Amino acid sequence: MPSPARLVVMISGAGSNLLALDDACRRGDLDGQIVGVLSDRPAALGLERARTRGLHAEALPIAAGESRSDHDARLLAAVSKLQPDLVLLAGYMRILDAAFVHALQGRLLNIHPSLLPRYKGLHTHRRALEAGDALHGATVHFVTPDLDGGPPVLQARIKINPGDDESTLAARVQRCEHVIYPTAVQWCTSGRLRYQEGTPMLDGHPLETPVLQDFDL
Ligand code: GRF
Repeated sequence: MPSPARLVVMISGAGSNLLALDDACRRGDLDGQIVGVLSDRPAALGLERARTRGLHAEALPIAAGESRSDHDARLLAAVSKLQPDLVLLAGYMRILDAAFVHALQGRLLNIHPSLLPRYKGLHTHRRALEAGDALHGATVHFVTPDLDGGPPVLQARIKINPGDDESTLAARVQRCEHVIYPTAVQWCTSGRLRYQEGTPMLDGHPLETPVLQDFDL
């Protein structure tokens, strides 16, 4: 991978992970540069935050009558134009179709707010609380067409406190996300982490289970 690696970040919301990734690049902890931020939502706060930092930021909302696959093809064209080494989903809330995922397989990562394979999909904090779980966290994984089911590479784990509600839990999980996402991306940019025929390889060995990092927050 070239140094710095070309990173494209895809968002739908506030963009706190985007900022954490950009901070890591600017600090020199991550050997990358964000060459573009794309969003399906023109009003996403993260787009504005990206522009404030001088980053290239584009909105590509789905057009009236446009099919999901046409939209994803348009998105893929916009991503490809930026010639990314890695594409990082950071709160991108639309499901990407198989053609999009296959075109970027091995270069497409996501951060998900749960200890996958528990709680794929939405409302992960609520579901962990309702289940009475003692532990919760976030996962960085390679993206495959199986939603939130691609191979996990790095997990952050925290304890659920007795007084936690959805928002206190979400806030602590996000603090962990801002650490583990840049870390996992740096593993890729440095060549430590590769994707080989569906298997993540870390330091030359197949990663059977994700690396687990406990946070005392
Ligand atoms: C994060 O919690 C991430 O795990 C999930 O969406 C949220 C995005 O937050 N996929 P932000 O836009 O990065 O602040």
